[in-house]
Parts: sequence; structure tokens; C-alpha cells
Amino acid sequence: MKWFNKEGKYFLAASLICGDVLKATEELDQLQRAQVDSLHFDVMDGHFVPRLGLYPEMLKSIKSYTDIPVDVHLMLDHPIMYAEKFIEAGADLIAFHIESKNDIKETINFIKSKNVKAGLVLNPGTPLEVLDPYLADIDLVMLMAIQPGILGQKVISETFERISNLAEKVKDYPIIIEIDGGVTSETAPKMIEHGAHLLVCGAGTIYRPHENTLENKVIEIRNIINQSIS
Ligand code: DX5
Ligand code: ZN
Repeated sequence: MKWFNKEGKYFLAASLICGDVLKATEELDQLQRAQVDSLHFDVMDGHFVPRLGLYPEMLKSIKSYTDIPVDVHLMLDHPIMYAEKFIEAGADLIAFHIESKNDIKETINFIKSKNVKAGLVLNPGTPLEVLDPYLADIDLVMLMAIQPGILGQKVISETFERISNLAEKVKDYPIIIEIDGGVTSETAPKMIEHGAHLLVCGAGTIYRPHENTLENKVIEIRNIINQSIS
């Protein structure tokens, strides 16, 4: 996949679980026109988090329709059992939780053996030090700015300091920092200023109920970030 270059730029991902299935192709067209950098694809098992999410057949259909890269977020107790299904369906990156029950190294190696980028996700309470053994092996770290599994929550305030600390920790690695949850027009510029590279835009930005189109809402949040960080 075309991968992110973390120098001097930020990227926006659209959180597909927030979309309207009845308007899927129209929304994908709009996201393509607005040039979102990635499609964020939430997978949930009803156990690691208290709801169900998206599924591999849906990813396959999306990949047959658009070439926007897809970052898959596995909120699963056993990511290694399901990673292959999403890789076969066309995932460009698979990120899974470090709090999951599988062997972390084995799962990273499995994903990378399929020539797919690998990322680790941390829940808000998980210390950043747990990443240390894996820094040389991963392409991305995703910090949850909310408790995973519920859309539309407010950002946890410690997130900003965690982003700075993570940015310092990974500064010598080509690791992309992705933030999931709590992204709004107020928090997005702060997240970028603290060192985030890729923001998941969901219920608080591009999918918030509003008469404006999805395309315009992507442009709007990008303008807000650009003005604020320039
Ligand atoms: C939540 C999901 C997110 C979600 C982000 O567990 O992983 O991707 O869309 O939250 P919002 O949409 O509220 O920013
Ligand atoms: Zn997610």
C-alpha cells in the first residue's frame, strides 16, 4: 500500500462504522473526492468490547470499489484467529490490541508474513512501556482516546500527554501514531500538535449529524486543523 510518511504532514481516516450502509457507495465516492487518507474499519467481537462491528465480506466489497487504503482495527480477544480473513479481504494494515489474549510477537509476525502492515493498539489505561519490546517490528501505534467499543464519547484528557510521550518514544522509528476516538474540531489540532499523525474521524467530525455532505465535512475538519496548526 501507499504508506504514510510521518514527516511534516497529518492524515485523516474515515471511521466506516459510523457510516450509513444504505448509502455506502455514495459515501465512498464522497470520501474519495475529499481525498481521505484511509478508511478505518472497526472489528468487534462483543466480548473484548461490548458490541459487534464490521466483517470481512464487507471489507472485500469495499476494496473492490475503492483503492483508498484500509486500516483494520481488531477489538478482539483472539486477533490471530481472524487476522487472515481481513488480510484476504484486502486490509492494508491490521492493528490489534496489546491487551488481547494472543502472543503479541507471534501475531505481529503472522500479519507481516502476509506483507501487510502491523499495528498495536493501546487502551487508555495501558502504560506505553508495554510497547518497548515491539518497537522495531511495528508500523503503527494506535492510542485509544476513549474506552473502545462505544461511539461518540468525549476524549479522555490524559490523551494529549500520552501522545507527546509516545511521539518521544517512537521518534527514531518510522512508526505512525494514530488516534482513535474523541476526535472533534477542538481536539484534532491539539492531537496533531502533540505529535499524532493519523486521526480517526467519526461521530465527532465527519459523521456528526449535520446537513453538510460527508465530503464537505472532511474538507471542513482539514481546514480547521490547517488554520490551527499553521
Ligand atoms: C470506537 C471505534 C472508533 C470510533 C471512534 O471503539 O474504534 O473507530 O469510530 O469514535 P468516534 O466515532 O466517537 O470518534
Ligand atoms: Zn477504531
